[in-house]
Parts: sequence; structure tokens; C-alpha cells
Amino acid sequence: MDINGSFVKIDTTSPFSIQLKDEEFRLLATFIKAHYGIHLKDEKKALVNGRLQGVLQSLNMKSFKEYYDYMVADKSGDAVLTLVNKITTNHTYFMRESDHFSFLKSHVLPQLDKTIRDKDVRIWCAACSSGEEAYTLAMLVNDHFPMDWDKRILATDISTKVLNQAIEGIYGNDRLEDLPKTWLNTYFRRLDSERSVASDSLKDQVIFRRFNLMEENFPFKKRFHVIFCRNVMIYFDQETKTKLIHKLYDCLEWGGYLFVGHSESITREETRFKTMMPAVYQKV
Ligand SMILES: C[S@@+](CC[C@H](N)C(=O)[O-])C[C@H]1O[C@@H](n2cnc3c(N)ncnc32)[C@H](O)[C@@H]1O
Repeated sequence: MDINGSFVKIDTTSPFSIQLKDEEFRLLATFIKAHYGIHLKDEKKALVNGRLQGVLQSLNMKSFKEYYDYMVADKSGDAVLTLVNKITTNHTYFMRESDHFSFLKSHVLPQLDKTIRDKDVRIWCAACSSGEEAYTLAMLVNDHFPMDWDKRILATDISTKVLNQAIEGIYGNDRLEDLPKTWLNTYFRRLDSERSVASDSLKDQVIFRRFNLMEENFPFKKRFHVIFCRNVMIYFDQETKTKLIHKLYDCLEWGGYLFVGHSESITREETRFKTMMPAVYQKV
């Protein structure tokens, strides 16, 4: 079973598949952890093997050691981008963990409305994957604040594959089913029976950028009022998670909110945040 709970079939008996040896897996896992924080436990070996088979075959490589040496030596950075695109798990959907959006709507936005003086509401969707979470935030914010507010959302991820999908803004119609009808009519246009595209105005409202949460220094000029950093820390070990939580704390305005995934709750020892509801914290 993969990280998302779905079954991944890997045909290790295929005469064409290249076997990932334990020491090769450790080399790759160490590299990925050091650069991206993602902690690949031993049981992820089959997953890594399966996800990288096609890459090795397209490069005509005979072993994972050969692939590893090529990837670390590649000065263009393309090889490592491909690795990241293959190794990350990008599962997401509109309105995921919807009680967070309800809390944002009923508590957080009304509070920001009262306290922000310069009409500039700053929201960061960290680890945004293919854009569903960031676009959900954008539509919610539009419902609340008047036209003359700056409501742009910053949305970041390390995978260029999902960022490109997010920028394109094309989604299967079945993935939009849970959105309110008014949002569907206002922000999406049907392309055909299978797909719809986000409107230009919605796409313009979200600034998608590649950003690695493992960066030592976070480069943001202004602090955020709200940070969504959900369902990414599950891939990090405790030390990496704690370090990241401290950095996110520093990136928030006083009174600002951090939303994490429901399975990523922060313990009291890890943080100076006040718990507002499960997986929602306020900087106090
Ligand atoms: C499971 S998705 C979560 C998407 C969305 N936040 C949600 O909750 O539905 C996790 C995302 O984290 C990204 N990610 C993993 N490690 C990262 C890192 N070090 N920096 C930034 N993004 C990272 C992955 O590329 C992936 O798109």
C-alpha cells in the first residue's frame, strides 16, 4: 500500500525491471531526506523502485547506482527535478478537511477583516500540490473581502509537475463535484464532458512558485496572516517537523493562524502556538 492508502502493483518478477538494492535505496533515501526532508522508511523501497523504473529505463541505465551517480552529478538540475516529481506524493482535492475551511470562514476571516488596516490579506499555501487547496482558499477569501483588498494567495511546492498542473488549472469534472454551485459557475468553465478549467481571474489570484520547505532561510518580506501547511509533515521525521513548525511560527503575524493536516497535530512541547481546534493553531 502506498502513502495515500492505495495499492501499488509493482511487478518485481518482470525480466525487464531493474532491482533496487538495499544500499542503493539507502543512498537515494539519504539524499532525499537531506535535501527535501522526506523520510523514506525501509518499507517504501518497493514504492521507490516502482516509481523510478521508467526513469531508469528511459535513460538506458542498468542499475540504481548508475542512476544515482548521474543524478547527483547532473549540473542542469533536471535529473533531480525528475526525481522529486517521481518521489513526492501529491494526493489532494478541493475542500479537503473541510472543517478547516469552515473555521477559516466563520472565525479567521472575520477577525482579519477587523484587524488588517492596509487591505492586504496574506495567505500562504505551502505544499500546495496541484492547486486545489490554494484555489479553494482563493474562492473563500473572495467571498469574504471586498474587491479593493489584495487577496492574492502564495502557493508553493517542490514538485514542478504538480505546479504546472496547478498553473494550467484544468481539473476533472468529478473532482469539482463538491464545490458550491456558485463557485462552479463563477470560477470554472467546462471544456468538455470530462474537464473544466479555472477562470483567468482565479488563476491570476494564486501565485505558484517552487519552494522547498527545507530551505534554511525563508525569503518572505512580509509575514503571513494564515499559513496552510497540510499533509506534508507526515513525510518528515520529528526533528524536521519541529524545525519547520518553528520557522512557520516566525513567518506568521501575531494572531496569525497555522493549519496543518489532521494527522499532523502539533504537541505542546513542539510549539509556542495556541491550539484553536484540531490541527489549527494561533500565534500568540
Ligand atoms: C499530499 S500533498 C498535500 C497537498 C495539500 N497540502 C493537501 O493537504 O491536500 C504533499 C505535497 O508536499 C510536497 N512536498 C513534499 N516535500 C516538500 C518540501 N520539502 N517542500 C515543499 N513541498 C514539499 C509534495 O510535492 C506534495 O505535493
